[in-house]
Amino acid sequence: MDTTTKRKIIIDCDPGHDDAIAILLAGANPNVEVIAITTVAGNAEVEKTTLNALKICELAGITQIPVAKGAGQPLIRERRTAPDIHGESGMDGPLLPYPSKKVENEHAVDLLIHKLMASAGDITLVPVGPLTNIAMAMRKEPAILPKIQEIVIMGGGTFGNTTPAAEFNIYVDAEAAKVVFESGVPITMMGLDLTHQAIVTDDIHERILAVDNHIAQFVHELLEFFAHTYKEVFGFAGAPIHDACCVAYCIDPTAFGTKKLRVDIETKGEHTYGMTVIDLLGVTGREPNVNVAFTLDQVKFWDMLIQTLKNYT
Ligand code: BDR
Ligand code: CA
Repeated sequence: MDTTTKRKIIIDCDPGHDDAIAILLAGANPNVEVIAITTVAGNAEVEKTTLNALKICELAGITQIPVAKGAGQPLIRERRTAPDIHGESGMDGPLLPYPSKKVENEHAVDLLIHKLMASAGDITLVPVGPLTNIAMAMRKEPAILPKIQEIVIMGGGTFGNTTPAAEFNIYVDAEAAKVVFESGVPITMMGLDLTHQAIVTDDIHERILAVDNHIAQFVHELLEFFAHTYKEVFGFAGAPIHDACCVAYCIDPTAFGTKKLRVDIETKGEHTYGMTVIDLLGVTGREPNVNVAFTLDQVKFWDMLIQTLKNYT
């Protein structure tokens, strides 16, 4: 693909096993250009997620893309991490050397603002962790709003994985999610309804191993750790690589079936804090604000991942 038609993206992440796979998918696919990687507290403290992002970039030879450290706490709530799913480091399993790649001096929120303001309105934000940085950037510089082409979010769904109602990324900072979902910027949401279709079953795992390069080996090691809780606790056939779905959507939206619906974020409920309240039947009569993904073309998705992994030499 001609470089002029690449979709420009900024990945805001909390690596995170599936965040790592999202970065790797973006890093070697000809249809997207990663402008920057920003980090946030989520799966682990932001110091850890930032170190993990640098390690991933170094391993993948992603040397020119800036990595900026972002918010260490949600806007209002106490921080919550996910060592039960991702381990203490946020990316337990593979052992990677300490990276020589350095984090930017600029804070992630400022980097987001300056990249967007300098753009022609052609940058898509891909937040695959809690939405703290994105909300802070919107509040600090509202002039970025018309500059954002689209936000492709991993979060939410019609059910939860952290509470019965709430998915982890939205639950960790629902106030931030509320700011983003009410921003008026075009949003596509990859919730659990979608990402639980992106499960690395044994046959997919074998296809990844068969790629037989150092990145496929790294993905294999990530999956070995990440699949554990999903298999043992949730009874899944493997790990869902949630965050990779957002990058895949930027690469090829035709692999996804979506519906434009009204989605509001619950910030007050005793049992429903962090829920994405999706108006499936249109009962509110309110203007749809989110393109919600519900179906995944398995062939296109896995072929895209395998093909991209082969691009690492
Ligand atoms: C989301 O939470 C994190 O654990 C994953 O990285 C993903 O972004 C899934 O609920
Ligand atoms: Ca994540």
